[in-house]
Amino acid sequence: MDRRSRSPFVAGNWKMNLVLREAAVLSRRVAEAGPWLAECTVVLIPSYTALGAVAGSIAGSSVALGGQDLYWEKQGAFTGEISGPMLKDAGCAYVLVGHSERRQLFGETDETVNRKTRAALEAGLSPIVCVGEVLAERDAGRTLERIDAQLAQGLNGFSGEDMARIVIAYEPVWAIGTGRTATPAQAEEIHAHIRRRIEESYGNETGACAIILYGGSVKPANSYPLFKEKDIDGFLVGGASLDAVGFVDIVREALRAYREEK
Ligand code: PGA
Repeated sequence: MDRRSRSPFVAGNWKMNLVLREAAVLSRRVAEAGPWLAECTVVLIPSYTALGAVAGSIAGSSVALGGQDLYWEKQGAFTGEISGPMLKDAGCAYVLVGHSERRQLFGETDETVNRKTRAALEAGLSPIVCVGEVLAERDAGRTLERIDAQLAQGLNGFSGEDMARIVIAYEPVWAIGTGRTATPAQAEEIHAHIRRRIEESYGNETGACAIILYGGSVKPANSYPLFKEKDIDGFLVGGASLDAVGFVDIVREALRAYREEK
């Protein structure tokens, strides 16, 4: 399968931002961007409290809904947690797993990433599994080693069929919220490596179909050159996804690059 069979996939991670009214307005603006949006997979990932409001705003559009995290148990005495079936029930098709903020601030490990990814699949959600190195690892030349460990442990025990439903997001931690983006060549090196690893473990076709997103200070101005790289299939956008016009422009720029090479 050739590279341009993978149409753009852009997810907006709103993190801990926006009250209900703001979330409803932003999601409506994105959903109303135009019918061309349906050529891409666009996912909005609000806070838990806004899932219902956003689900209402995007109903009937091609825009999908995602959760920012989940717990691996389905239900029970786990105060403060949200399960896969709850996210599914709220209208989610996707869920982030192992975002670097969860890893750095909330003790997420590759082992918990593994359990959460399994729970997401069991609930009928597509997990967006985040990997990425911190600056010290990059400076020490240990980026690929770190990514390999995160993939090997985080995705240990999954079948090719599972893998077909998993989206990978490569997010160099030094590029998140810093305004410092990886260059297209830097990002492509890691994306190509991740795809090779998927091919080795699950076969060429699964590797060729795998969606690998880049995240870290993505904005309209760098969307096009990043998407031009053959193993970059879209973006996980943080800060810039809080602005409807900017977020839609990121999708539009990715689609422009896609159409040129399709
Ligand atoms: P950023 O965040 O776009 O604000 O750098 C990306 C992310 O954390 O997913």
